Formats: sequence, structure tokens, C-alpha cells
Amino acid sequence: MAHTGRPWRDFKPPPSGPVWSIIQGYGSYWTLVAAIELDVFNGLEKVGPCDKDRLAEQLGVSAFHLQHLLDALVSFGFLDQVNDRYELTETAERYLCSNGAASMAALVKVAPGPLENWTRLAQTIRTSKVAHPIEQDAAAFYGPLVQATFATQLRAASRLGLRLGWARRPRLKALDLGAGLAPWSIAILEQSPGSTAAVNELPGLIDMTGAKLEERGLTDRVEMRSGDFHDIAIETDTYDVVVLGHICRTEGAARAQKLITRAVNALAPGGALILADYFADNERKHNPFGVQMGLTMLASTTRGAMLTHGQVCGWLRKEPLEAIRLIEPIGFNQVYVAIKLDKGSMKSSGT
Ligand SMILES: C[S@@+](CC[C@H](N)C(=O)[O-])C[C@H]1O[C@@H](n2cnc3c(N)ncnc32)[C@H](O)[C@@H]1O
Repeated sequence: MAHTGRPWRDFKPPPSGPVWSIIQGYGSYWTLVAAIELDVFNGLEKVGPCDKDRLAEQLGVSAFHLQHLLDALVSFGFLDQVNDRYELTETAERYLCSNGAASMAALVKVAPGPLENWTRLAQTIRTSKVAHPIEQDAAAFYGPLVQATFATQLRAASRLGLRLGWARRPRLKALDLGAGLAPWSIAILEQSPGSTAAVNELPGLIDMTGAKLEERGLTDRVEMRSGDFHDIAIETDTYDVVVLGHICRTEGAARAQKLITRAVNALAPGGALILADYFADNERKHNPFGVQMGLTMLASTTRGAMLTHGQVCGWLRKEPLEAIRLIEPIGFNQVYVAIKLDKGSMKSSGT
């Protein structure tokens, strides 16, 4: 006999775990923020595996309170605890120590965007207006963000360069729009001998970009281009590589498409468009990371929204591009690479 309706549902209800995990997600986030603020991961790295009292002494905090924090970090998989001695897991060494190979320690605090926008998400959805869009003070938001993402993006860009063989291609000419601390330009300049880059940033941030390029000893091969990437003058048919690194998802569909067209116009035939971003799957349900990134854009930007692969591929296919590929040089970082058709093939393909 078919079981339908309330009695069957009451007999075997779905578990409440998913609701609890969202409720506790709030506390989990702030637990990690507190651990980073208190220097727990760096402190443990310094003193090595130890009990709560030794670590509390090192950090200058209450041992009783610290134990609660440490036990939560064990439950997240960031620490191991055996016989009351705590030690870093490989995840914490790599991502949560400040000098970790792929440190995200500084990113934890800034990645969600302005926190007050999350508390007003319902209002944003009701009115389609964000209370404090990041564009209101781009330098204040992007300054800490690009510092925090630099290590990760440089790794992504460097791995991509290995895949694309930049080291075997001397004198590449690159254009990097919304460069932040210029991780993509730096990877090109450091891998391709004699290469040069035109590096664009907003006026309030471009000195920070320049300082990073100076620190890497690359200033003599760089031309700084201050201004809005929608308006600055850009040469046509000139560059071997044009980078749109994590700038499309804040722009909204119409402006993102325009940026892609600007980038393709700037490419020399045979040049490569590099479009890195955090994408959602086409059905908007299989990749929770991409879906949540879309909501993060909605919560804190004026026009930003989810970018699906289908959307981006559709935009790329409208351009005179061929060999459109999706590469994931490091986890969670996907990059579209596409080659500009030369004029002859543009005619023959009817574009
Ligand atoms: C998410 S960061 C990405 C930085 C870098 N491309 C990367 O991949 O790490 C976005 C960058 O775009 C810059 N940006 C935002 N709007 C811009 C605009 N209208 N014109 C130029 N740069 C802009 C921001 O200042 C910020 O540095």
C-alpha cells in the first residue's frame, strides 16, 4: 500500500541536521576568525604540539576558554588532539598559518564582503538595493582583499603559465584589467623572458599594484594604466595575452560581456584571452561554492551576480575566438582560455 501524507512523513521525517549545520555555520565562521585573530595557528607552529596551558601562555589568553576554541578547531579538521596535546593538521599548515604555502589566513575575514550586508540580505532581495555596495569605497574593500588573495591567485596564474608554456614564449605582450596586486601579470613577466605588461587598476589602488611590481623587480617591464577598465584607452589587435582576473562577476551580465568584447578587441590574432572567475554550474545546484559566490556578489555589489559556465561560454562564443578551454590550475580556481581568430579564419568562419 502506498504511504502518503502526514502519518508517513511523521514516521520517517527528514533529519534536522542540515538546518543545524547552517545555524552553527555562523558560530563556526567566527570561531575561525577568533583563532586567526588570536594567532592560534602561528602560535602552534612556533611552539609545536602542546597542551592548552602551554599554548595559552604563548598567546596570553585564558586556558579554559582556549580549550573550547581548540576543540572546535579539532572538530573542523584544522587541529589534531591526542591525549590533550594539540597540533596543526596539514590543512592548517597550508592554508591557515600566515606563512603557509597557500595561506588564506588573511582572506577569512574579508572574503564574505561587508558583514552588515549579510544581515540585510532579506531587505536587499525585497528592494534590489544593497545597503553598502563595495563600489562606494572600492579602495577600502579591495585593498585588503587583493592582499589576501594574492598568494592564491599567483599560484593559479603560475600553474596556468606552466600549462600554457609561457616560459617557451619570449616577449609576450600582456594586458591585465583590474589587476589588483597583478598576480597574473607577475606570473607572465616571471615566466616569459622579455615580456611586458600594461597593468590597469583604479586610481585609489594603483600605487599598491605598483609597489608589488617593484617588490618583484618588474617595474621596468610594466606600464601602469590607472582608471576604470570600462573607459581607459586600449589598443586594438595588440596583445598576446589579455587577462580578466576575477573582475567579471561583480559587473553584471551586460557590463561583463562588454569587458570581454574590449578584451578580445585588444588581442592580436592568435592571442589568448584569460578569464578567471568563480563559476556556478549551468543548473545552479551542483556546485554550492559557485552558487554561494553568486549570492555573495548579490549581497554586496551594485550589479554583481552568479556567473554560470553556460552564460560565460555563450558570451565567448559570440566573439571571434576559437579553442575555448576551461582549465582548473588549482582547486576552486577555474580559468577560461580562448584564442583570437586571425582575420582570415574570422572571414572563413563567418564571424
Ligand atoms: C577581485 S579583485 C581581482 C584582482 C586580480 N585581478 C586577481 O585576479 O587577483 C578585482 C579587482 O578589480 C579592480 N576593479 C574593480 N572595478 C574596477 C574598475 N571599474 N576599473 C578598474 N579596476 C577595477 C579592483 O580594484 C580589484 O583590484
